Amino acid sequence: MALKITVIGTGYLGATHAAAMAELGFEVLGLDVVPEKIEMLGQGRVPMYEPGLEELLRKHVAGIEGATGRLRFTTSWEEVGAFGDVHFVCVNTPQKHGEYACDMSFVDAAFGSLAPHLRDGALVVGKSTVPVGSAARLAAALPEGVELAWNPEFLREGFAVDDTLHPDRIVVGVESERAEKLLREVYATPVGEGSPFVVTDFPTAELVKTAANSFLATKISFINAMAEVCEAADGDVVKLAEAIGHDERIGKKFLRAGIGFGGGCLPKDIRAFMARAGELGADQALTFLREVDSVNMRRRGHMVELAREAVGGETFLGKRVAVLGATFKPDSDDVRDSPALNVAGQIHLQGGQVTVYDPKGMANARRLFPTLGYADSAYDAVRGADVVLHLTEWREFRDLDPAELAKATPSRIILDGRNALDPAKWREAGWTYRAMGRPRA
Ligand code: UDX
Repeated sequence: MALKITVIGTGYLGATHAAAMAELGFEVLGLDVVPEKIEMLGQGRVPMYEPGLEELLRKHVAGIEGATGRLRFTTSWEEVGAFGDVHFVCVNTPQKHGEYACDMSFVDAAFGSLAPHLRDGALVVGKSTVPVGSAARLAAALPEGVELAWNPEFLREGFAVDDTLHPDRIVVGVESERAEKLLREVYATPVGEGSPFVVTDFPTAELVKTAANSFLATKISFINAMAEVCEAADGDVVKLAEAIGHDERIGKKFLRAGIGFGGGCLPKDIRAFMARAGELGADQALTFLREVDSVNMRRRGHMVELAREAVGGETFLGKRVAVLGATFKPDSDDVRDSPALNVAGQIHLQGGQVTVYDPKGMANARRLFPTLGYADSAYDAVRGADVVLHLTEWREFRDLDPAELAKATPSRIILDGRNALDPAKWREAGWTYRAMGRPRA
């Protein structure tokens, strides 16, 4: 009989995983402790913006006309325990307030609530990003007859569905052949097709995730450090990245210089990794991550300085600043640790009159930064601006007509914080275009 799957936690990771498992043909029950989320998902609606996810949900959620009915949602731990053979724990592990360490309270609460209801022979699979050593601790607290596996998730927001259905690799940390066999069954097809299946122990599986994110963060801060040098030496970091990227050992990806990385993963993961290494007495091994973090945070301050220079060099008082982009990356409505909003907030605190526009992130941005100004379109945001900051590289902004936009602002200065606009196009339309790590021209 086919395995029955539950997914605990229905954020970006859990909602996508639940829908993907239903797509693979499994009967799936998703749980969240927030009843409003469960109600929305049960109607085939997604509480966040993630391309393709709503379509996938509507294809499977029980009760929706024409759906397979393989996917249901609940708030009942009892129901989840009785239903599932394999339980995926997908709750989030944010940064602790005022500390580098990661907050394990949601993971601990999920395991605590689930444990009393688990059936003999059930497999619990952790997907959350956790400090190394957590799996061993959590396994020890599970009831007899229940096993644990650790199966980190590498999905990117904006590509969550595709990354889940076609992962680069599947990593499973297991302590028994049975757990491995069950997970091979879950990921047999079509997910597993062509994806390397890496079997390892608990600590290595936990570390793979934090190591991968640390490497990606390091790549971004490396190119941003080169951008600093390029600016000092009048070099061009975009050309430099292209040229070094031709070396396959380096590769082209994740070498986009700009205002740096943000979001719910990279910043908090490198900090939690440093904190955990410290606890393990291996803090020296990760001191470079402190530098990665500090190069990254410097980018935001540098953008503020470039903006100040653009409006006359002294003060933001009485100056109008248009900010294009609020989310931490395009194709997402996520504003967690968004470099764009951080820059907007700093300028606002220094007296600038900031107007933000983002294609999908407005509601979340308004909630987080209610004192900033907001506009309903890029044109409205730019109207009368002394300087325009391009801080999240949405396609909509690349497609803007600079000549048309120029009519809305007399100053015509644009600062590209993502190196994503075409400098020639903007300059030809009469704009002063300036980017990070590139010559002023
Ligand atoms: C990341 C990892 O990519 C993913 O594998 C992991 O599971 C979760 O964390 P995500 O946070 O969705 O995914 O976004 P990602 O595409 O990695 O971008 C992170 C940040 O880096 C964004 O703010 C982005 O703008 C920035 N970035 C990315 C750069 O500044 N330059 C680049 O070249 C690439």
